[in-house]
Amino acid sequence: MARWLWLKLLVLIGLFAFSGGREIKIEYEDDAPLYNRTLAKILVEYASAAYVTDLMTLFTWTCSRCNDLTKGFQMIELVVDVQNCLQAFVGIAHDLNSIIIAFRGTAGTSIRNWIADLFWKQLDLSYPGAEDAMVHHGFYSAYHNTSLQHGILSAVQRTRELYGNLHIIVTGHSLGGALASFCALDLTVNHGVELVHLMTFGQPRIGNAAFASYFSKFVPNAVRVTHENDIVPHLPPYYSYFPKKSYHHFPREVWLHDIKVDGVEDKGEKICDDSGEDPSCCRSVHGTSIRDHLKYYSVELRADTRESCSILVDSSVLQYDVGYNGDILSRDPTAPSHLKLSSRSDTASISV
Ligand SMILES: *[C@@H]1O[C@H](CO)[C@@H](O)[C@H](O)[C@H]1NC(C)=O
Ligand SMILES: *[C@@H]1O[C@H](CO)[C@@H](O)[C@H](O)[C@H]1NC(C)=O
Repeated sequence: MARWLWLKLLVLIGLFAFSGGREIKIEYEDDAPLYNRTLAKILVEYASAAYVTDLMTLFTWTCSRCNDLTKGFQMIELVVDVQNCLQAFVGIAHDLNSIIIAFRGTAGTSIRNWIADLFWKQLDLSYPGAEDAMVHHGFYSAYHNTSLQHGILSAVQRTRELYGNLHIIVTGHSLGGALASFCALDLTVNHGVELVHLMTFGQPRIGNAAFASYFSKFVPNAVRVTHENDIVPHLPPYYSYFPKKSYHHFPREVWLHDIKVDGVEDKGEKICDDSGEDPSCCRSVHGTSIRDHLKYYSVELRADTRESCSILVDSSVLQYDVGYNGDILSRDPTAPSHLKLSSRSDTASISV
């Protein structure tokens, strides 16, 4: 981790592809059931793609994780904050009539170390504007105080100017789920976006009970998928005897777990209660597995190389006529075949 602190490098790729101002009708059933497995299997692939290290194949949506249920996705912006080792993208899933915002989870540091640290995360920041709501400063800042928030908001705004008020779906796995949650709340509370859908996979707790109830008021269309014995949804710990001082999940959990039907193993999905801490869902097991954390719906959710905090600018980028001018890698919106890097060096690193 420390080796990246000095590496004040931040990449931001913006793109206006097909900037014809095409209108897309919103046809999203708002009375649709909260949990939709078909949608979950699509979104987990976006969450997985957010881990792709080769930015060119990700940007052009030609990566090996980009060609199954997410085919045809149109990337608008790829935000990479190398200093804090964060990555997210914004684009359009035309088949869902939706803007997809996906956040990468932990990369560049060992997942074991990151999980071990989760035990000790404090509720050390009052969430602005919400009474008694406390969150973890590191998770909050990783979205609000890095290049992510600005990059994502401006991409959403540009996309909506071009394509109309598309529906917005925010997703992410692990730490990426925590960031996705702050993003969904930010869009709703601070930017007047209605009916944001949030679906996260194996995310940790991010705030206390007051925060959870504030959250569910503003982001009612939220699903936190948990898987079998995945350890991360159990962290930071929940203490039922200190409900006010403890971390508390927001609803609604959907717990994936193996069940036996007539002696035959099958995959079960339990739609949990609206408390956020349904004792009959993932809390009914000990939850000590890292393996269960790294796979949801049989989709791999981890970085595809070890060097996931560096920027791979290889020969394939050169065809895009890349220019370096400091720290931001961006694609000139008026010239779709031109990428440029510009400077931003005022960021400070944070611990997430
Ligand atoms: C579930 O999601 C898929 C993909 O978005 C959609 O085609 C389908 O109609 C949805 N099902 C329900 C019951 O809403
Ligand atoms: C955000 O970052 C700036 C500069 O790094 C820092 O001074 C400020 O305290 C941070 N704010 C929060 C809420 O973390």
